[in-house]
Amino acid sequence: MAEVRRMLTTLLWSSNRRLPLLLLTAVLLSARVSAASIEDVRKQLDPATGKAKDTATAFGINGIVSARATLDGGKVLAFVQPVGAAGVPILVTGADAAKIVPRNEVTLTGTLGDGPLGFAVLLVKEGSVTVGQTNKAFGAAEPRGAELFKDASSLDGRYVSLTNASFLSPKLDGSGKIKVKADAGEVTVLVSKALKDRDVPAGAVNVFGVPVKVNGEWCLLAARFLSVNNRNAQNLATKHTCLTCHNPDVKAVGPAYRDVAARYKDDPDAVKKMCDQMEKGGGGRWGPVPMPALGAKVPPADREQLAQWIYGYRWDALLAE
Ligand code: HEC
Repeated sequence: MAEVRRMLTTLLWSSNRRLPLLLLTAVLLSARVSAASIEDVRKQLDPATGKAKDTATAFGINGIVSARATLDGGKVLAFVQPVGAAGVPILVTGADAAKIVPRNEVTLTGTLGDGPLGFAVLLVKEGSVTVGQTNKAFGAAEPRGAELFKDASSLDGRYVSLTNASFLSPKLDGSGKIKVKADAGEVTVLVSKALKDRDVPAGAVNVFGVPVKVNGEWCLLAARFLSVNNRNAQNLATKHTCLTCHNPDVKAVGPAYRDVAARYKDDPDAVKKMCDQMEKGGGGRWGPVPMPALGAKVPPADREQLAQWIYGYRWDALLAE
């Protein structure tokens, strides 16, 4: 680039027709953002030192937001993943932070630099984030035992889940951290600092997220918490034909369950309202199509279990606060 600039400067001053050349220079310099694959950007991150090799180039990337946490001052640390592969950590400030919602497809520009937690991140240029589709999947999580978190280098940037986790404190305290005990050990999970005095999920859950090394300790930047009984609940939902009209993550005939749970995330009557919906059906809240009344087919205990399962998806929205 320095070479190009020197050539242009020479040309510029040796010419009588300065204006067109000045314009050309401006165009060439402003086109310095290089569209890059997430893999290319990852190659500029040194896992041994946590530093970036190239801090000068502005990279333009496109991918799906996975794990995410709000830090001090409303800054957001998140990962942008390609489908099924390792992602890059990004740091977002200002109004763009609100667009960094898990499962949003985003296009953004940034340069690599030191992040707030001791590893390099893509420092996103303010105003550069655009959102494409929402509710997109970035691939399936790879289940991992906590044992692997003693050294998670091989999982760096990947979307994984800790199986059978239970939370070691009953509430979130706004510190942005919470410890869980999962299969074979303890792991610190990083969550939004905006989460204070919230009850943690009860019972065993699978904790989804991306491993990050914070001051020498491997932690998990959270993406979602789901009950370990998710599979049973899905089977129940299949049996009662719910999944012919609903998908947990994507809108179908009926709303996506994660959208339903997001709408009711602060409503203490959420579970009751969902049970009523199954019993009596009805429409108008999500669109013109009504849901049939299923009270005659779905017994009350099953309704309750299904509602609790759907409500579990509220963590998608809470972790994005
Ligand atoms: C024939 C299609 C269909 C089936 C089967 C169906 N739903 Fe629905 N469901 C819908 C539609 C459409 C809506 C949106 C209604 C509206 O706009 O208010 C909806 C809405 C919902 C809501 C949101 C209610 C609210 O208060 O916002 C929940 C929860 C729900 N369904 C759960 C279930 C469960 C659980 C089952 C299975 C027991 C099920 N649905 C079966 C079509 C269906």
